[in-house]
Amino acid sequence: MIVCSCNVLSADQVRDACATTAPRTPGQVYGCLGCSPQCGRCARTIRQIMDEALACASSCPCCPHGRASE
Ligand code: FES
Repeated sequence: MIVCSCNVLSADQVRDACATTAPRTPGQVYGCLGCSPQCGRCARTIRQIMDEALACASSCPCCPHGRASE
């Protein structure tokens, strides 16, 4: 699912960026994916995906997007 129409970023791309780089802000997610925020409408959604991915990384060893297996 595309979550950022300006940069054509998918939710999976955001989860992968969280799993590999552990960004602290949505701005860092854009940077990890080689782009920058444009309109900013997706920032809240990206933050939500970050929170879910990073929470799962610390508490859910079965999550394919988490960092528990590293
Ligand atoms: S929808 Fe992501 S910056 Fe515009």
